Amino acid sequence: MSKALLLENIEKAQQEIQNKKPLVSSAKMRQRYHFMAEEGWINDPNGLIFFKGKYHFFYQYNPYDTYWGAMHWGHAVSNDLLHWDYLPMALAPSETYDNDEQGGCFSGSAIEWKGRLYLFYTGTTKTQEGFVQSQCLAWSDDGINFEKYEGNPIIHAPSWIEKDNFRDPKVWSNGNMFYMVCGGKKGNFAEALLYRSTNLTDWEFVNVMFESRGEYGYMFECPDFFHIGDLDVITFSPMGLGERTVIYNVGKLNYETGKFRQIHTGEIDWGFDYYAPQSFLDGQGRRIMVAWSNAWDWMPWWKDWGPTHREGWCGSFNIPREVKLMPDYSLQFMPISELASIQYDKKIQYDVETKDELILEAGDGISGEIKLVVDLERTTASKIELFLRDNGKRAAILKLDLINEEIYLDRNQADDWNGGVTRSFLLTEGKTELDIDILLDQSSIEVFSCQYQVNHSCNVFADDSQNRNLVRVSDGKVYFKSIFTCGLHKTMDLGEVSL
Ligand code: FRU
Repeated sequence: MSKALLLENIEKAQQEIQNKKPLVSSAKMRQRYHFMAEEGWINDPNGLIFFKGKYHFFYQYNPYDTYWGAMHWGHAVSNDLLHWDYLPMALAPSETYDNDEQGGCFSGSAIEWKGRLYLFYTGTTKTQEGFVQSQCLAWSDDGINFEKYEGNPIIHAPSWIEKDNFRDPKVWSNGNMFYMVCGGKKGNFAEALLYRSTNLTDWEFVNVMFESRGEYGYMFECPDFFHIGDLDVITFSPMGLGERTVIYNVGKLNYETGKFRQIHTGEIDWGFDYYAPQSFLDGQGRRIMVAWSNAWDWMPWWKDWGPTHREGWCGSFNIPREVKLMPDYSLQFMPISELASIQYDKKIQYDVETKDELILEAGDGISGEIKLVVDLERTTASKIELFLRDNGKRAAILKLDLINEEIYLDRNQADDWNGGVTRSFLLTEGKTELDIDILLDQSSIEVFSCQYQVNHSCNVFADDSQNRNLVRVSDGKVYFKSIFTCGLHKTMDLGEVSL
């Protein structure tokens, strides 16, 4: 154990952040209200928790570069999930099991027990046998300074699981017992492995809780588990499933056998930039889910992580969503209600009809919200197109195909960087209306439809001249029962920058 090395590496990383802040302070593409690190590279949300009256976000973090590298855990706190204060790094590589340039402290979760905050993460290092991943523990009493458990690693990969594919522990409690699920790979099969413990340090393997024999890819990254209504949910980010990157399964976990039985499955988001979501229960009993708004190089549409590295940063989180269970066992993912507190210039119109073009004024057109309710009974057009972040030459196009009941988000002409069209079904059959909610920020567009069950999140690195949003209809009439638009204020602040 080297407590001194942990502190030294945290100190070093903090210094790096201070050094880079002046560069980032002049950045043009920074998000306004979506969570980002102060600088450098960020990926998965980790250890999300409501602890001692505050929201805590931890995150996969490389402060030294705008690309992935030795993983630290960044840390920030908030009262409303929109305004954030950065705290010192919670974890840095420092031990034989997590100190590696190509490894580090990988993703994991947090839990509070008897007033203490426990973090579970995957230590990754390269050994003579190749990369080895094992589950590790750290804790804190003040929620700021963490120490690693001297008995780490607490769990090694079971014999049948590949040592370099055993990661991302999610911990929860049920009755008097703690449970943990980790993702694992066994040949071409993915396994969600269930463990239990009475004291958070000693863990016993229970069973393979959920598996994929190919139908859900070959590896589950960042499995998440939670209870909702009378049911349970397991979510994961599958590797090797093409365009499907975030899947949920509603069912029931039998705590005796350790087996999860599924009754409904669905997609959390169909967009190009929504990965590794994690959820937590907040002080108001809400199930909140947060994801990394980016993609990995093994995904079909991947080009690079975006042009923001020129500005000294890379990556943000999608807007936190509240998860709700529907009567048919599907899940809804609704942007947190706190967003209302940053809305300005709110406009609502009822019974609007158009057969050509309709301008939607959402704040400055760059950071805002647009909510539409289409009257499907009175609408005669076969499709509705929304040109988002438009400047006459460039735009992201949201297409609602009312005949084939499909939704597309096309970013081929959206910026100088991205391409590709995301596509999914629409749940309009037998319905009289179609609801669409769009969140625009400096570098992202999130589209929620069909009661927040069909969602598409994409990064779009549009410049500031792209500040118009409009509806276009060409082959009939569209009736909107209502159109709501507003601007959304900036909440993300770098803190002190000494130039
Ligand atoms: C998912 C992931 C995790 C891993 C982490 C490493 O995005 O690959 O499985 O723990 O990122 O940064």
